[in-house]
Amino acid sequence: MSGSREQFGSKLGFILAAAGSAVGIGNLVGFPVGAAKNGGGAFLLMYAIFVVFICLPVMLAEMSVGRNSQKDPLGAYAALSNRSGGWRIAGWLSVITPFMIAVFYLVITVWIFGYLLQSMIGNLDELAQADTFGDFISGNSIFAYMIGVLLVVYLILQGGVKQGIEKAAKILMPALFFMLIVLVIFVLTRDNAMAGVEFYLVPDFSKIDASVVNGALSQAFFSLSLGMGIMITYGSYIDSKADVPSSAKLVALTDTAVAFTAGLMILPAIFSFNPEINPEELSESSVSMIFSFLPQIFLELQTSIGYIGASVVASIFFLLVFFAAITSLVSIFEVPVASLMSEKGMERKPALLLCGVLLVVFSIMCALSFGHSEFFTNFMTYAGNDNSFFTVVYDVFYDTILPLNGFLICIFVMYRWKKHNFNEELDKGAPKFKKSLFERYVNLSVGTFIPVILLVIFINTVAVKYF
Ligand code: PHE
Repeated sequence: MSGSREQFGSKLGFILAAAGSAVGIGNLVGFPVGAAKNGGGAFLLMYAIFVVFICLPVMLAEMSVGRNSQKDPLGAYAALSNRSGGWRIAGWLSVITPFMIAVFYLVITVWIFGYLLQSMIGNLDELAQADTFGDFISGNSIFAYMIGVLLVVYLILQGGVKQGIEKAAKILMPALFFMLIVLVIFVLTRDNAMAGVEFYLVPDFSKIDASVVNGALSQAFFSLSLGMGIMITYGSYIDSKADVPSSAKLVALTDTAVAFTAGLMILPAIFSFNPEINPEELSESSVSMIFSFLPQIFLELQTSIGYIGASVVASIFFLLVFFAAITSLVSIFEVPVASLMSEKGMERKPALLLCGVLLVVFSIMCALSFGHSEFFTNFMTYAGNDNSFFTVVYDVFYDTILPLNGFLICIFVMYRWKKHNFNEELDKGAPKFKKSLFERYVNLSVGTFIPVILLVIFINTVAVKYF
């Protein structure tokens, strides 16, 4: 393709787009559920430490690689390694991983979209029934909803970086913050809400064990959209005057603040609805939390704020999660699109259509994993279970490959691209960062213990999951 690479129009636009990627279903639901089950304040503390001392350095590495190379992940690994064959594999992983994560994330977004529309038409009664979710995901209407979600993503991405991604982030993110605050205020003024706040914030260190620590780190890593080539790609859309360290800090801060605030919404809502609740049995997963537990709360709300009031609250909630999911989906889908554009010289629209068709094929296979098709429902057997196609994609790409990609970017930056290039890139536009304590910390950690930790997580996951 000719012409210069498109860029974000402003620092704020870049930060909002990157924060839009980071803020997703993981923050709004995964994080509160994780905190509730794993020791409240103790989990929060650990999570915050991981964000600052492990994830932020990795984010700086990814953004610097993108900004310096001005290329998609595939092109960036090739260019900065002088086209070394081995590193091209890391480049490919950084394109295939986001694509496959987009596949299952799209399916979850489709469910949210369905629940949003149902809440908007006031169908809370039905959403709260025990069988509704199972029937919904194994029914045929999800294919219609899938078209709706894809259309939204297509419309945003076809506008390109500035008119598409940035513009959408500038509208959706402030709307998201606003809705979150409205809901938090609403929830905190309910009876017994404070029991939920207490449960959320008071630390219980006895819950912390190796698997909780591992879970908190994986959650933070996923939440900041690391290991998926996204921060490389978005980093490639900023120029050399931009201050990467301060932008990365703001993105991490926003993401963590939204996750924290989401906990202040979800846990007090649960406690005020059911003061006797035993948190252990809260929910096994974030999926059952959004799609079965919360709809019961919305229905119950009808007795205090009426039918319309409860439908409005439910609609705001699902709209909030939907906006968060859309900005994440846009960012993750941009990665393979950007790669096709720069590696194969395609224009944006054909690249988008090609990726879109592939995404639809794989997402349909995922959507068929819930009973529609025997083949996809019992797709592969490992660790003594028959796993659906959806579960396999999730296990392989989210649980297993993400930490591997994190490991690879650290080693690449420090030992192939080299530390002095990395530092020079970080310091451009950020003179104060130069030789600061944090920069020294970033060098030390990215060159030593962060990749070691990520590699250990990767090996441990492979050993535990598949054998
Ligand atoms: N950060 C997102 C979240 O917390 C994860 C994600 C990003 C998923 C981009 C898909 C695409 O949900």
